[in-house]
Amino acid sequence: MNAPVRPTDNLRIDPDRLWDALMDMARIGATPKGGVRRLTLTAVDRAARDHFRSLCEAEGLAVTVDAIGNMFARRDGRDPARPPVLFGSHLDSQPSGGKFDGALGVIAGLEVIRTLNEAGIETEAPLVLCNWTDEEGSRFGHSLMGSGVWAGVYPLPKAYALTDAEGVTVEAALSSIGYRGEQKAEPFPADSYFELHIEQGPILEAEGATIGIVTGAQAQVWYDAVLTGRESHAGTTPPSARRDALVGAARIIDLVERMMRARGEDGRGTVGELRVLPNSRNVVPGEVRFSVEFRHPDDAALAAIASEFPRAAAAIAAECRLALVLAELFRFPAQGFDPGCIALVAEAARRRGMSAREIVSGAGHDAVYVARKVPTAMIFIPCKDGLSHNEEESILPDHAAAGAQVLCDAVLARANRPA
Ligand code: GLV
Ligand code: MN
Ligand code: MN
Repeated sequence: MNAPVRPTDNLRIDPDRLWDALMDMARIGATPKGGVRRLTLTAVDRAARDHFRSLCEAEGLAVTVDAIGNMFARRDGRDPARPPVLFGSHLDSQPSGGKFDGALGVIAGLEVIRTLNEAGIETEAPLVLCNWTDEEGSRFGHSLMGSGVWAGVYPLPKAYALTDAEGVTVEAALSSIGYRGEQKAEPFPADSYFELHIEQGPILEAEGATIGIVTGAQAQVWYDAVLTGRESHAGTTPPSARRDALVGAARIIDLVERMMRARGEDGRGTVGELRVLPNSRNVVPGEVRFSVEFRHPDDAALAAIASEFPRAAAAIAAECRLALVLAELFRFPAQGFDPGCIALVAEAARRRGMSAREIVSGAGHDAVYVARKVPTAMIFIPCKDGLSHNEEESILPDHAAAGAQVLCDAVLARANRPA
């Protein structure tokens, strides 16, 4: 005998409506090379948020904003006593980012809501679609900021006091775009959290898999470094008198690269941001400020890196007669996702006949912090050449639709499970 057909088994998301909504969102902050520049808490981010809010309200969702600007769009369930199923991602982008990093998870979440509304389906548990603030970390130096504050990882005052390169605080930026909300930024009871995202790496594409069943995310540590030497005349300062901060930075960048490569293909080490002062071609650089980040799937390996790097970098600074101030911005361990939620993602892909494989996330995601409070899983789809954090980031509409369908199925299974 066949298994009983669940009422939602034949519920199909609308691939064209999903793609059109993705392209609409991509117009906000569009760049000439086909990407987006939607830095967190800027006027462009406000435009994306306002657009998202109006789309949600048009679907009858109640939108609330918390004190760190996280947006929550709620669809009531049949049983108001049940904690909601959460899903979503982020609408901010890298300075020269792609159209899909973050936006896919939010817009696919909207497509889930539209599909349910169109079919007139009421879920047992309420649903809440989330847009987390400042996932990228490129403006204020703190990746996963909104979800981190929500989950209690960062105190709100610490997040408010972070500044961008112009000295604007998070608190001022939130107020200036009108998204410093009334609701407390803290976990509310929730049943589960699902996040759809592009893989941002090459594995699914190389293996011809449509769905990545994400089992967890790797460990990370981020630093800010300031090297100080002495500004002096490029033509008159002999080698013995030079205290060149950029030479020291170059050697530390090389150290990051060597430490990464010593860990084989699992190693990750990046210096992505560098500011040279006074940045004049005939002045020996007196100060260099730069970022450093390391990642590894294994906590012990990351801990070894985090103990080795400050010592080795300090030794290089001393050799170069420079002062080094190294601030650890944050560190988080590898985060495994919830076996029950992972199983629902795997089951949805299997029932829909999609090729799927398990995968560990190389990128950070809001799901990493949400997972500390709520059972969580993620769904990945392939992106072209594994390329992300790049304006040329691209995906196939079929893959977007497959990911949204799996999201829809997993969310429904969870929202309608027996209480
Ligand atoms: C987020 O984009 C990250 O740095 O992984
Ligand atoms: Mn992202
Ligand atoms: Mn990103």
